[in-house]
Amino acid sequence: MQRIIITIDGYSSCGKSTLARQLARHLRYIFIDSGAMYRAITLYFLRSHINISSNKQVKKALEDINLEFYYNEITGENDIYLNGENVAIPIREMLVSEAVSEVAAIKAVRAFAVAQQQKMGEQKGIVMDGRDIGTAVFPNAELKIFMTADPAIRVERRFKELYAKNPNITLEEVRHNLEMRDYIDSNREVSPLRKAPDAIVLDNTYLTIDQQLKLALGWVKEKQ
Ligand code: C5P
Repeated sequence: MQRIIITIDGYSSCGKSTLARQLARHLRYIFIDSGAMYRAITLYFLRSHINISSNKQVKKALEDINLEFYYNEITGENDIYLNGENVAIPIREMLVSEAVSEVAAIKAVRAFAVAQQQKMGEQKGIVMDGRDIGTAVFPNAELKIFMTADPAIRVERRFKELYAKNPNITLEEVRHNLEMRDYIDSNREVSPLRKAPDAIVLDNTYLTIDQQLKLALGWVKEKQ
């Protein structure tokens, strides 16, 4: 069967990574969470106190960043490594979530991440989720999915996930963060979040995880 490229884009907390991970498992494809790359870059910038309005500082910092994904046998996840350190946990902290969209809007940062993402797709057999994967990273991908869900449901799902790790978090904080990221991601100059004209819309407001997987596997079959 022909190995294809599958892109999954959409708003924050629509369950893109959940679907991407499951598709990759079923098809024995590579799964890449491109958001983890922007989060790892942001973590580095925060730790190194990079002034993101300084092009010079940003470019110098990018030269010092090495990102790699390694499969974690215990969790079954593809963990991201920043200069040799597994940062899968710290990149999910609120401090990173609050800064990531500003960092991801920087042209040099996007060029840095997109070049690596395109390299990962050279052999095909990949599912990548993000905001610009079907529009900018793999505009010729065989299957493009654009995910969406009711905003209140997205906030609730995200809140439940974060609350399990940090009981101090409030629903309001989560709502504010999702709204802010969606706004910045949709309005930035470089590759804003858009549905690619040839993407299939998947609204999972009323779908279970199994139902959405079934739907997506059907679309894959048609493209293989
Ligand atoms: O996917 P996740 O929500 O973890 O992504 C974190 C942030 O990274 C997004 O809010 C967005 O600002 C940025 N991002 C991006 N382009 C991508 C993936 C993520 O700009 N392809």
